[in-house]
Amino acid sequence: MTKRKVEVCFSPELIHLHELENKIVVVVDIFRATSTMIAALGNGVASITPVADLETCRAMQSEGYVIAGERNGQTAEGFMLGNSPLAYLDGAYANQKIAMTTTNGTLAIEKSKPGSKQVLIGAFVNLRATAYYLTSQNDDVLIHCAGWKGKFNLEDSLYAGALVSLLEENFEFDCDGAIAMKGLYESNKSDLAGFLAQASHAKRLQNHQIEADIDFCLSLDLFSIIGKLQGQELVAQVIETK
Ligand code: MLT
Repeated sequence: MTKRKVEVCFSPELIHLHELENKIVVVVDIFRATSTMIAALGNGVASITPVADLETCRAMQSEGYVIAGERNGQTAEGFMLGNSPLAYLDGAYANQKIAMTTTNGTLAIEKSKPGSKQVLIGAFVNLRATAYYLTSQNDDVLIHCAGWKGKFNLEDSLYAGALVSLLEENFEFDCDGAIAMKGLYESNKSDLAGFLAQASHAKRLQNHQIEADIDFCLSLDLFSIIGKLQGQELVAQVIETK
């Protein structure tokens, strides 16, 4: 198999600089959207429909969806469910269809669709499953960081470094971003939580007393599933990594 390529896009504002055609795009929003989506799918949720705007998401309640909405780290007005991964761990939403809108993550998913071969969601909680799946495919990979309101963020970029580090045996780096983040990850992987405690969104969540979510989002390989977009819905696919 010819060596495939992996590259990193640091923000949805930069996605136009990257070619999506025939690539697998892995969207990452560590604090918290993609971590929450994997936790939900890993606890039996039937599907998650990412929605860019609040109005559209609210309206989906009348179609039988459980709606989840977050803005600026807090539960959006008129929504019961915000964006905490902990809300799904007891299986309360098993077999339900979720419609979800968040500040950055759902927008990044939307911007990853045009032309891409597959869209996956990635998080530390299913890091190895995603790497294993990508290695089993025959396509180039683009890691798309959701960032914060168009800006670079530390946690998504560090995840990109972690994934690149697991892929390097079978993929070549097609951008300096991949090299830079691999280096940053490898020099901080022994204390991810300590390093990311200084991340701007971690501080924002701490201000909202949402520390438990941060700890969860930095847990490694809790789920052996990938989250994959099928049509407009994200669904789980179990990955046997042994
Ligand atoms: C986002 O989409 O920006 C994040 O998921 C925000 C959050 O959950 O705090």
